[in-house]
Amino acid sequence: MQSLPLVDPDSFKGAMRAWASGVTILTSVVDEQIHGMTVSAFSSVSAVPPLVLVCANQASTTHEVIESAGVFAVNLLAHHQDALSTRFAMGDAAHRFEDVPWTPGERTGAPLLDGSLCSLECRVRNRHPEGTHTIYIGEVLSVRQGDGEPLVYFDGAYRKISG
Ligand SMILES: Cc1cc2nc3c(=O)[nH]c(=O)nc-3n(C[C@H](O)[C@H](O)[C@H](O)COP(=O)(O)O)c2cc1C
Repeated sequence: MQSLPLVDPDSFKGAMRAWASGVTILTSVVDEQIHGMTVSAFSSVSAVPPLVLVCANQASTTHEVIESAGVFAVNLLAHHQDALSTRFAMGDAAHRFEDVPWTPGERTGAPLLDGSLCSLECRVRNRHPEGTHTIYIGEVLSVRQGDGEPLVYFDGAYRKISG
């Protein structure tokens, strides 16, 4: 295949600012230690079987926990959970769950955050390391449905759907 030059990282990041996405908190648990981080790289993959994907930076602690646990939960955030998203993206991982109501998922033990639009428990079916990240394909083991409006991330800021 012909070798074509790639765009530089800044151009790439600029392009991604034009992509509006939902926001999730990806959680997992290993040896009774819970962990979670903010993730926007989430997608539905298939309904039969029920599969989703998440992309986790290989340098993140959450990646390390999922590698050991083989399970994770994805919490789809509601519009009022923007502060939670900021907290779970910051450095102080030890205090992220402080005063955050959550329930251990019945299938995986991974934290399901109360007030989320929806929480999905997953078992890792496949993992694909690509660049700095790993794409995890998760088989969905349970769904806990909430309600409300979604939190949206666009052009580096949190948005609410209006109209
Ligand atoms: C809106 C938003 C979306 C993010 N999406 C991702 C993502 O899809 N994958 C990822 O690995 N990190 C993502 N991050 C960054 C992580 O949340 C951040 O690096 C976190 O501190 C990692 O925590 P950990 O090392 O404790 O696991 C995102 C951050 C923000 C604010």
